[in-house]
Amino acid sequence: MKNEVIEKDIKKLSKEPNLKDYAATYKLFNWKAAYQHIDWFPKGKINAAHNAIDRNARGDRKSKVALFWEGSDGEKRKYTFLELMELSNKFANVLKTLGIERGDRVFFFLPRIPELYYGFLGTLKTGAIAGTLFAAFGEQALLDRLQNSAARILITNKDLKERVDKVKDKLPRLEKIILVDSDKNTDYVLSLTKLMEKAPEDYKVAHMDPSDPAFMLYTSGTTGKPKGVIHQHLAILHEHMSAKWVLDLREDDIYWCTADPGWVTGIAYEILGTWSNGAATLVYEGRFDPEKWYDLLQEYDVTVWYTAPTAVRLLMAAGNDLPEKYDLHQLRHICSVGEPLNPEGVKWGKKVFGIPFHDTWWQTETGGILIANYPCMDVKPGSMGKPIPGVVAAIVNDKGKVLPPNNEGNLAIKPGWPSMMQQIWRRPQKYESYFVGGWYISGDRALQDKDGYFWFIGRADDVIKTAGERVGPFEVESALIEHPSIVEAGVIGKPDPLRGEIIKAFVILKPGEKGSDKLLEDIQKYVKKHLAGYAYPREIEFVETLPKTRSGKIVRRFLKAQEMGLPIGDTSTLEE
Ligand code: WTA
Repeated sequence: MKNEVIEKDIKKLSKEPNLKDYAATYKLFNWKAAYQHIDWFPKGKINAAHNAIDRNARGDRKSKVALFWEGSDGEKRKYTFLELMELSNKFANVLKTLGIERGDRVFFFLPRIPELYYGFLGTLKTGAIAGTLFAAFGEQALLDRLQNSAARILITNKDLKERVDKVKDKLPRLEKIILVDSDKNTDYVLSLTKLMEKAPEDYKVAHMDPSDPAFMLYTSGTTGKPKGVIHQHLAILHEHMSAKWVLDLREDDIYWCTADPGWVTGIAYEILGTWSNGAATLVYEGRFDPEKWYDLLQEYDVTVWYTAPTAVRLLMAAGNDLPEKYDLHQLRHICSVGEPLNPEGVKWGKKVFGIPFHDTWWQTETGGILIANYPCMDVKPGSMGKPIPGVVAAIVNDKGKVLPPNNEGNLAIKPGWPSMMQQIWRRPQKYESYFVGGWYISGDRALQDKDGYFWFIGRADDVIKTAGERVGPFEVESALIEHPSIVEAGVIGKPDPLRGEIIKAFVILKPGEKGSDKLLEDIQKYVKKHLAGYAYPREIEFVETLPKTRSGKIVRRFLKAQEMGLPIGDTSTLEE
């Protein structure tokens, strides 16, 4: 399989790619020289939102559509760069009136609606830190994030606010809630419409140091609560260059990124890197649906599409007759991220759209694409590709020593790329723990072949990737043991042909409780409400005991091996 190659001839591509010669660019490129690609204020100051929007709104792209928006109910709207500049300016003025200052945290708990996009940009303009919360989050997930970040303001809607109300008493630092769908102002709850009406359209964007925080995202590891990954304003440079090379974006593109801004992909490549390249973004508020997705690709003449392997597999499962009914000839480049993309998925792209899916690898912590396939480079189906210019990647052992080709090891990156996380919010030791022997250690296992292509093998830890969502087993276990019928729980990712992995839980019930289908459903509902709509165990097994170390830690590795019928490995540290 690894010898298979989809060859590229750049003369045959429908457009000459932005990155024409990978090897030559990789050799010559350096980040300092690329500073000219973004806009700077005097004295080396910068603002990511200025680069994404205002820079375009003040130039030739002023009247060009930046955002095509379609709501779940079919409502359609368009926003030009100028309109987005004015709306984000107004929003920045709203925050100023409320006393928001540089470094304060402003959070968004919204579906994919226009307010989220201009609100996010407006926040960056003030120098405050914007945080996003996925609309599927439950009470505990909200509490963890809003408490840890000590957010001062939350923007949400009436529906979602109900979940916030359940934990509001534990959030003394949350000063105001702004609702996008209310006209009433009270002391604590304000109306966005009312606030925006009074806000001026001009705003002097904050001049930030390149390393000043711009936005934060919570992500999961193996243990403990989710951690707040902080990204700096300079990340825009990385997002701009990678969107240019990997997504091959330019101003005449209609680009659709199917990710939600609750995750890093939605921020880096739906807002920042996309708009800084002058492309138009399509945002669809609704959920996945094969027919609707093909409809959107056709109706908006989408040229570049960035999606995820689970979506690709679901589309494949929906059959090839379906896309044949649509005119998708505008589509010229397709990419994927978030979990391994199987070779079948890459090749299916070629069969159905005439172009292979281009896999890209990165993480919340990396703030931008680090390893990728490019329009100009041959694709080896199943490989993540090669590091983008300016990024040095290697496979290292646990001490940080570089391993020769074809050896499995830790996928590691030389620190210093512009979108590298700048801190973990209030957890400096956690931040330090990512770096070993002069390398950033990603937590993924991989190998590099003789030709320099990287191949994903698996996670080095217990982190679960289900339908592209990153889930920490500890958080699911914690939610499970809060359930009145459960005493103990162990959670693993179980391989699944469609979703990559599903969450499987092994639970010990309280004495006297009996496992039943009803209880199983009740537990699932409980976790969804508590944690998030996607983070519940699709499979639950009621067990009598759980494998533990002598110090009482559940050994998930053991559960997983048992589940998959694999050798259990070293059991000398186990309790029994
Ligand atoms: C996984 C998403 C295989 C990986 C932007 C990584 C991938 C984690 C790929 C980060 C890929 C991402 N092939 N695995 N192309 N891309 N991953 O933080 O395990 O949600 O560490 O960021 O997703 O997930 P996160």
